[in-house]
Amino acid sequence: ENMAGHLPTSLKGLDNALCGGIPFGVVTELVGPAGIGKTQFCLKLSLLASLPSSYGGLDGSVIYIDTESKFSSRRMIEIGFNSFPEVFQTEGMAQEMAGRILVLRPTSLSEFTESLQKIKVSLFQHGVKLLIIDSMAALLSGEGVQGPQRQHSLGWHISFIKSVAEFSRIPVVVTNQVRSQSRDGTSHYSFQEQGRGESPEAATKLDSHLVAALGIHWAHAVSIRLIFESKSGQRFIKLAKSPVSPPLAFPFNITSSGISL
Ligand code: GTP
Repeated sequence: ENMAGHLPTSLKGLDNALCGGIPFGVVTELVGPAGIGKTQFCLKLSLLASLPSSYGGLDGSVIYIDTESKFSSRRMIEIGFNSFPEVFQTEGMAQEMAGRILVLRPTSLSEFTESLQKIKVSLFQHGVKLLIIDSMAALLSGEGVQGPQRQHSLGWHISFIKSVAEFSRIPVVVTNQVRSQSRDGTSHYSFQEQGRGESPEAATKLDSHLVAALGIHWAHAVSIRLIFESKSGQRFIKLAKSPVSPPLAFPFNITSSGISL
């Protein structure tokens, strides 16, 4: 393990490929269609970051920016009970763990800006060991800003997110939803801007479309990109961008203990 450290994901193969897990000090992006499991992955990471170090956790607080009201402390505790029964059966532990996750729910780009400014101070005061933004794409749908103008307005946010990772040396995880394959069979990807609930069946040639939607600035801010996809009913996490690993794919399931092999 290097000096900067890693947050293990509990998926062994993925952790090995990432030299121990989600790295500290950089931005990791989770990309995939609605319902594929990005939020479930974030819940597991939140749990692992807040878990006592004697159980392999980071023993820290988590800031969870939840733009789609997807965070569920009930579900996180359920995953905790099933993944780490020894910890969660201890009296008061479930409440303590839930209390370590600070959930912010901005509903517009301007509220998101406020959230980011607010966390700058908390990051150092409260021993925050993980920042999650679930999701970034959701913030792009409103406010009627399009194209280059939209990219420009997000420039500050992108720089800020990257600098939070670098200065606080914590893992920063950002989810982005993409549309799945369109009906006519062509691979059409763009950030989800309308309804939800599309099929999680999706192919993988995302990169140029992501760049088009969020701008080249974002593509450069992201050090690791994990693409979530489903093929013939099996879910996979594909390591699409990594400084340390070739593009590998790892199967996963979602069970009562959350994301697992
Ligand atoms: P969007 O937020 O819609 O973009 O999708 P996402 O990728 O964040 O999906 P999410 O993480 O919400 O995963 C949804 C999937 O997780 C569902 O299809 C279920 O299969 C699974 N899931 C969600 N909650 C539970 C639960 O309480 N128990 C179990 N076993 N599976 C769950």
